[in-house]
Amino acid sequence: MNVADAIRNRKSTRAFLPREVTEAQLRELLEVARWSPSGGNTQPWQLYALSGTGMSRFQEAFKAEMAANPRGDRTEFPIYPEGLKEPYRTRRYVCGEALYASIGIPREDTPGRLRQLGRNYEFFGATAAVFFTIDRQMGLGQWAHLGMLMQSVALMAESMGLATCMQEAWMTRHTFLRRFFEIPEHLQTYAGIAIGYADHSAPINQWRTERAPLDEFVIFAK
Ligand SMILES: Cc1cc2nc3c(=O)[nH]c(=O)nc-3n(C[C@H](O)[C@H](O)[C@H](O)COP(=O)(O)O)c2cc1C
Repeated sequence: MNVADAIRNRKSTRAFLPREVTEAQLRELLEVARWSPSGGNTQPWQLYALSGTGMSRFQEAFKAEMAANPRGDRTEFPIYPEGLKEPYRTRRYVCGEALYASIGIPREDTPGRLRQLGRNYEFFGATAAVFFTIDRQMGLGQWAHLGMLMQSVALMAESMGLATCMQEAWMTRHTFLRRFFEIPEHLQTYAGIAIGYADHSAPINQWRTERAPLDEFVIFAK
């Protein structure tokens, strides 16, 4: 698969088949993704990967977490800025509406929406995942570099016939993640990426987000 195809084909997959993704596959994927760039080659990240028995143990531990802490944690920083302005607010709204419309959940069905949100914490059925943390010393620049690594993981997964969903939803479970993986305090937990085999027949995988056309966000100086 060439890079253009990987970029265009990657999308957030929110229903996966129960087919196993092995640690060997994750290693193959991460062996390539680790070549992502970072300023000064700092590689300011630490990753935590789940598959096989690690995934089973995680899911078991998460059941206890849900019982003890059903509402989750307050995130360590806001997922979106407060009072998100236009055009971002509308873009976010349109994306959410399309997602819920694809599975027939109307706006007023709050329990239905919460149930779907809860699927994040099952990795939407994916059998593998990677969590991303970054040293707390790092600033905005290094956070951008972490994003490059995440995209590399997603694109490499794509090229291996795997599908992904990036998941900031895990930011509401940072105390659980810290306990489960024994993440040291100097690392800031961020998002996860669910990795698995897409269930192409699932209605939630039948839609795609749009993107702004070039002329809306690129100025070509003359
Ligand atoms: C860092 C990051 C975190 C995300 N977190 C979530 C999440 O927690 N749950 C979810 O369903 N989608 C999540 N998404 C998916 C976005 O909604 C999605 O990337 C966006 O709507 C564009 O759609 P596409 O990925 O299908 O191209 C996340 C995306 C990114 C880049």
